[in-house]
Amino acid sequence: MFRNDTVSAGLEDELGDILQKARDGKTWSQADLAEAAGVTLDEVHRMERYELIPDEAVVFKLAKVLDLDGPALSAIARNAWHPEEPETDADLDLICLNVFMGAYPVKCYLLRCPVTNETAVVDTGGNPEAIIQKARELDVRPSKILLTHAHPDHAWGLDLLVREFECPTWIDKREPRPGGTRDIHFVEEGEKIPLGELEIHALATPGHTPGGISYKVNRAILSGDTIFAGSMGRANSSWPDLYRSITQTLFSFPDDTALHPGHGPATTVGEEKRHNPFFCGKY
Ligand SMILES: [Fe+2]
Repeated sequence: MFRNDTVSAGLEDELGDILQKARDGKTWSQADLAEAAGVTLDEVHRMERYELIPDEAVVFKLAKVLDLDGPALSAIARNAWHPEEPETDADLDLICLNVFMGAYPVKCYLLRCPVTNETAVVDTGGNPEAIIQKARELDVRPSKILLTHAHPDHAWGLDLLVREFECPTWIDKREPRPGGTRDIHFVEEGEKIPLGELEIHALATPGHTPGGISYKVNRAILSGDTIFAGSMGRANSSWPDLYRSITQTLFSFPDDTALHPGHGPATTVGEEKRHNPFFCGKY
């Protein structure tokens, strides 16, 4: 079962974000993009600041020079695509909390074995109080905290969760060590983490950060900031690593595999292969 705690809003990334991230992949400046696509530098500025949605022909030109799929990019620019929700999984209770860190929306999750009720927290959402309240509502006491990476919107407030639940925290050793816990387990690629009758598989998905980890359970992957519906995460540590994490790791699973990112709506491997402008037509 997958339960979204509140109605989710639109996509995490708009045209402007996608242009920036695609430029990052080519190590292009805004001026480089303007020249390649035959638009003015001011137009690139305005597109990347969400102030300008150009006409269809320009969107296709931008897509072509940035190695993006034109129709997929156009659909997102026109706000005409939203991913289909993944199929529900009766063998898994996955509760998504849509929370805010300041004004910035972020997602964190409670993952529960429906047979034993054993529960894990996946990311803090920078909002430990919301997680504690939801755990009380569900009458569960999480036994594990699994972090996809150490950015504050995913790991802040860990000390409060650890005090409340008195449980260990899993994180990759290449991430900065988050404050607030003495019981840290350095998670390894391929590690299997038991949760009641469920088995959580750790997948190394670096690129957004050096030690980014995605957690796969049954046919669902909690993927942190690796991929967003219709876009990819920001490649803070390595754009090629991030691209490989998506295409060689996440896309190695069947098309109906659910992807639950740290921001924006849930999606599936198949939806992203068909509609994500970075990957559409290539995989
Ligand atoms: Fe992040």
